[in-house]
Amino acid sequence: MSTAKYIFKNHQAQTFPYPSCLEIEKAIGSYIYDVNGKAYLDFIAGVSACTLGHSNPIVTDAVKNQLDKYSHVMVYGEYVQSPQYKLAQLLANNLPEKLSTTYFTNSGAESIEGAMKLAKRATIRPEIISCKDSYHGSTQGALSIMGNEEHKAKYRPLLPLCNQIIYNDAESLINITEQTAAVVIEPVQGGTGFITPSDNFLQKVREKCNETGALLIFDEIQTCFGRLGTLFGFEKYDVIPDILCIAKGMGGGMPIGAFISSWELMNLLTFEPKLGHITTFGGHPVNCAASLATLQHLISTNIMQEVDKKEQLFRLHLKHPKIKTIRGSGLMLAIEFEDEKLAKIIVEKSLEKGLILFYFLFTKTAIRITPPITISNKEIIEGCKIVKGILDE
Ligand SMILES: Cc1ncc(COP(=O)(O)O)c(C=O)c1O
Repeated sequence: MSTAKYIFKNHQAQTFPYPSCLEIEKAIGSYIYDVNGKAYLDFIAGVSACTLGHSNPIVTDAVKNQLDKYSHVMVYGEYVQSPQYKLAQLLANNLPEKLSTTYFTNSGAESIEGAMKLAKRATIRPEIISCKDSYHGSTQGALSIMGNEEHKAKYRPLLPLCNQIIYNDAESLINITEQTAAVVIEPVQGGTGFITPSDNFLQKVREKCNETGALLIFDEIQTCFGRLGTLFGFEKYDVIPDILCIAKGMGGGMPIGAFISSWELMNLLTFEPKLGHITTFGGHPVNCAASLATLQHLISTNIMQEVDKKEQLFRLHLKHPKIKTIRGSGLMLAIEFEDEKLAKIIVEKSLEKGLILFYFLFTKTAIRITPPITISNKEIIEGCKIVKGILDE
């Protein structure tokens, strides 16, 4: 074991018993390079985070320019900082009128925490509803609404009155009632292997929220900034939430999140008590600059318009008798195999052959494909060839 790997294993907290321990030297475009100079085609993009690929000069120049001007200057929400207000303005310009006001955070989980608090404050109701098998983050509030008991059990007691519906099951919407402050839902359910909404499920959730007065929170932490071919997933499914949570891909590889709502709703965090949600580093100017550059680039190019064609190319080149199905939408795809052994073999052998693939949180028979959305057709075909080659073996 190299010294670096030894230190990593013994002095950095481990989240998984068998990490790949890829030792990174650099990353450019759709490729990551290890310290031995071996190139790996990246079909994961830091788990849906590196929207424009690695080391994209659009992002790195924005980061460097901002660092040369100022980095952290004050706790969030006190000073007028141009990367923050310009990003808030561009987001508002690209969102429906009722999603006009952005609270910047450090991460996806913090966005969920803020949204849950805002919903409770706005409705004066106690209950949060989420979906079975959902994932919204690892902090205690987000964990409380996670739809998987195995991951929650050892951390109880968690928040009370966190109840569930079943994704794509309209009958379960009966659980949304007048005591529900908010329903938190991912437009495409991630942890179970990219399940897309069927039979107008999201519209039905919206209607039930309207009926009961519950707020609708969309967790677009993984779908945001173009991954489905639209800037946000709600555009694709034509349902507007009351609160929108984003993170991951919005930073172009830098850590930032946000929850977005109407000014009236968001203003509730300002008074009685004031400082309803505070964060020191949320909306860090360097990360806002990276996010602003990413958003500007996506809006001014045809990268998002290419996503559907890239999805079709993946589907075409992944046709193989050992692949049961391909689920998902845009560049959020899941390859489903007959058994978990095969899924594991594909991830491990692909890495040996220079292709990065990864697992899902709750399903073991599928593997994820979430490349940078700038990935080229040639790279898509090259990666699919590696997968099929292993399956043929
Ligand atoms: C749908 C969804 N929500 C929330 C989160 C949590 O985001 P973060 O890891 O930035 O806290 C994730 C992260 O994987 C996610 O995929």
